[in-house]
Amino acid sequence: MELCIIGSGYVGLVSGACFAEVGHHVICVDNDQRKIDALQAGKIPIYEPGLEELVTRNVSAKRLRFTNSTEDGVRNSQIIFIAVPTPPQPDGSVDLSFIERVAREISNVLVPGEYRVVVDKSTVPVKTGEKVADTIRRYKKDATFDVVSNPEFLREGCAVPDLMNPDRVVIGSSSQKATDLMKKVYEPFKAPILVTDVNSAELIKHAANSFLSLKISYINAVSAICEAAGADVELVADGIGMDKRIGRNFLNAGLGYGGSCFPKDVKAFIAISKQLGTPFKLLEEVERINETQLARFIDKIREALWVLKDKKIAVWGLTFKPDTDDVRNSVAIELVNKIVAEGAHVTAYDPKGAEKAIEWKLIDGSKVKIAATPLEAVEGAEALILATEWKEFANQNFEEVKKAMHTPLVFDGRNLFNPETMRELGFDYHGVGRGVAGK
Ligand code: UGA
Repeated sequence: MELCIIGSGYVGLVSGACFAEVGHHVICVDNDQRKIDALQAGKIPIYEPGLEELVTRNVSAKRLRFTNSTEDGVRNSQIIFIAVPTPPQPDGSVDLSFIERVAREISNVLVPGEYRVVVDKSTVPVKTGEKVADTIRRYKKDATFDVVSNPEFLREGCAVPDLMNPDRVVIGSSSQKATDLMKKVYEPFKAPILVTDVNSAELIKHAANSFLSLKISYINAVSAICEAAGADVELVADGIGMDKRIGRNFLNAGLGYGGSCFPKDVKAFIAISKQLGTPFKLLEEVERINETQLARFIDKIREALWVLKDKKIAVWGLTFKPDTDDVRNSVAIELVNKIVAEGAHVTAYDPKGAEKAIEWKLIDGSKVKIAATPLEAVEGAEALILATEWKEFANQNFEEVKKAMHTPLVFDGRNLFNPETMRELGFDYHGVGRGVAGK
């Protein structure tokens, strides 16, 4: 099928590449000329395992191409996916101006009588689909089109496998013709398809991300109780997670959730539910717990080091999660900035994210040193903080690490290390919610 994706960010680019991989012809559109130039030159602007090979293969097979022209994309495709950013506004609601602009751009190109399906893939508040349809109709009265909601559930760091093997595909549509075409798009993925109305599909996305955030805040709140009572949150999570109704996934206690989705989507769900006159207070508590979690962790560091000023501290991990170079809304970065503000001298190491953290000025390059290896970061350090659970950190030679450090104090913000092993190695180990094996 002929598909066009407007917006070549995480969702747009990975979706485009995966659609091409299963045999569709895909045009990826972006108004950022630098991004298009880079993509046309074979350079992938983000680090996502497996993506580069996929893009290269499908560009050579002539199933995938890139352009800055919405007109080119819309004219030459049956189905137009909108995958532009929906950033948060100061009050927590979503800025839908990019979606609105794309709706107008699409309407400019639509030719009455030539049917198109316009699919919203960006994460949007419920009722956005109605507004997209109204906008297109307002600017092109006789346009023949349907608007569909098709939320995306991929996770950064495993976006390609998530997209190639989705748990489910949600198609929100009020038109049989559009639904049939969408089913054909997804047929090759052999995933369960749930067809709903447009509003329900939009709600599914916000409700899913908010529920996962709630799971994380739930276990983080439990981790605080574990610390106070003397229990191990990892064992508690295993025990409750073995109940199939609960499940062990997303019950990893740590520094809290970050990234460009959960914090934004929880806020947006709170905002839209308020707007609809049905405030979702539970989610306000989810946010509060998330903020407290980092503060509690920094208290723990202060408790051990007494004063942070002039302390040499190594931080492993800057990205918001492992296997990505994404440093946006990363709790690890927030942590670094907070301890630097208290006068700590931080040396950080991250396998993929350090360059972007400095380039995007998320951390101050004049105050935070970037190390080339994990071992270099801990040289002379009075404490080591594990902020992102990259696998490579678990596989370090900890005899060497201990030798390199000034004082062997470890704060494990993601419970990556085994407390007993660390203690046997001579570290003073502090995890999250590990009140039995260690605080
Ligand atoms: C999330 C959802 O998982 C995807 O399904 C969704 O499509 C995506 O948002 C989106 O809306 O685009 P993502 O933000 O890539 O995906 O990352 P997650 O793996 O969900 O992690 C989010 C945050 O939660 C990270 O900071 C991670 O460290 C934290 N987390 C996750 C925990 O603290 N504990 C856990 O048990 C799991």
